[in-house]
Amino acid sequence: MGKIKIGIIGCGTIANSAHIPNYMKNPDVEIKYFCDILPEKAQAAVEKYGCGTAVEDYHVVLNDPEIDAVSVCTPNYGHSVISIDALHAGKNVLCEKPAARIYSEALKMQEAQHETGKILNIGVVNRFNDAVNRIKAYIDSGKLGEVYHVYASFRAHRSIPGLGGAFTTKAIAGGGALIDWGVHYLDIVMYCCSDPEPVTVSGEAFCKLGVDMANYTYTSMWAENTKNVNGTYDVDDSVTGIVRTKRPGGEKGPVISLHGAWAQNIGERDTYIDFIGTKGGIRLQYGGDFTYYTAEDGALISYKPEYNKRPHFENEINAFVANVQAEKAGKWEKLPSHIDYAIKTSKIMQGIYDSSDAGHEIAF
Ligand SMILES: NC(=O)c1ccc[n+]([C@@H]2O[C@H](COP(=O)([O-])OP(=O)(O)OC[C@H]3O[C@@H](n4cnc5c(N)ncnc54)[C@H](O)[C@@H]3O)[C@@H](O)[C@H]2O)c1
Repeated sequence: MGKIKIGIIGCGTIANSAHIPNYMKNPDVEIKYFCDILPEKAQAAVEKYGCGTAVEDYHVVLNDPEIDAVSVCTPNYGHSVISIDALHAGKNVLCEKPAARIYSEALKMQEAQHETGKILNIGVVNRFNDAVNRIKAYIDSGKLGEVYHVYASFRAHRSIPGLGGAFTTKAIAGGGALIDWGVHYLDIVMYCCSDPEPVTVSGEAFCKLGVDMANYTYTSMWAENTKNVNGTYDVDDSVTGIVRTKRPGGEKGPVISLHGAWAQNIGERDTYIDFIGTKGGIRLQYGGDFTYYTAEDGALISYKPEYNKRPHFENEINAFVANVQAEKAGKWEKLPSHIDYAIKTSKIMQGIYDSSDAGHEIAF
């Protein structure tokens, strides 16, 4: 089989830090297009990677019959429209997280996947993280007993991305700390707990610390290059929520508590997930290792497994490429990042925002 031909749509941070370098490493891939509405960004990629053609309009990529798949790496507003157009053009899609700005857009993406039968994977990269997969295996094998509560903390002291730019503008991003950062935590919880169905959600989303953009105090922030203090700031910079779930058989699933913030007056970052079970518990330090806690022979014990960790973005891209090859051969199966799984996270996040707006719990 010849090389898979890929188009990159959106040549910003995540494209350059994760998608492009890992496609470049894969011997089965040729990047044919770099597309960005800012032509200098597409051109810079052509020059940096020494391949492909720079284009401004993503339809050029979709109209090329040679293209097998695209990576959608635009800000969130582009995810749904570009992915749906790509699927209908017969392309396979890896779309960055979150699936979309709002749940109804994510549902339309899922509908387009079902209609076309092409691949639609979401950039829920932690499903390809070795620590996360080990935790899932611990839970699946019963080491934790019944996991009845999962507590996720994604709280930063002062870390609002691109103040006033795409990340803090609701019309572009759909939301703030929850949809941008919390999506990863919620996705890890959902994946490790075998994607239980949400039953009720109660939440509050706060827009507080960055509102006075000109006077917002911080030491360093990512996406500083897209900052525009005369821009818009109308998204959540902190959030809290509680989600009740049920398992496929209808029995009660884990309750999920989420506490998150790009910025909060808490002095330091606090980023972990606690999986709390009847037989044992696990704390995952986000982006790092995990510790298992249990009791044995009348004593409390804990241990931190050590193992080889492969880079998760590379795993994600390689899995997508293999999935596209299988699709071309007519026998692909859903990866854990398929829209059918990622859609539940969109539903929960929408529930948290809706609950916050309504001032009461939302039942699905
Ligand atoms: N998986 C992760 O951990 C992770 C990390 C960072 C960002 N992301 C996601 O990746 C996406 C992009 O984030 P980023 O930090 O790279 O942003 P960015 O602003 O650095 O890059 C986005 C690029 O898309 C381009 N663009 C906008 N609209 C376009 C369109 N219609 N057609 C073509 N290009 C278009 C912009 O000009 C820009 O160059 C976001 O959805 C974000 O949530 C994921």
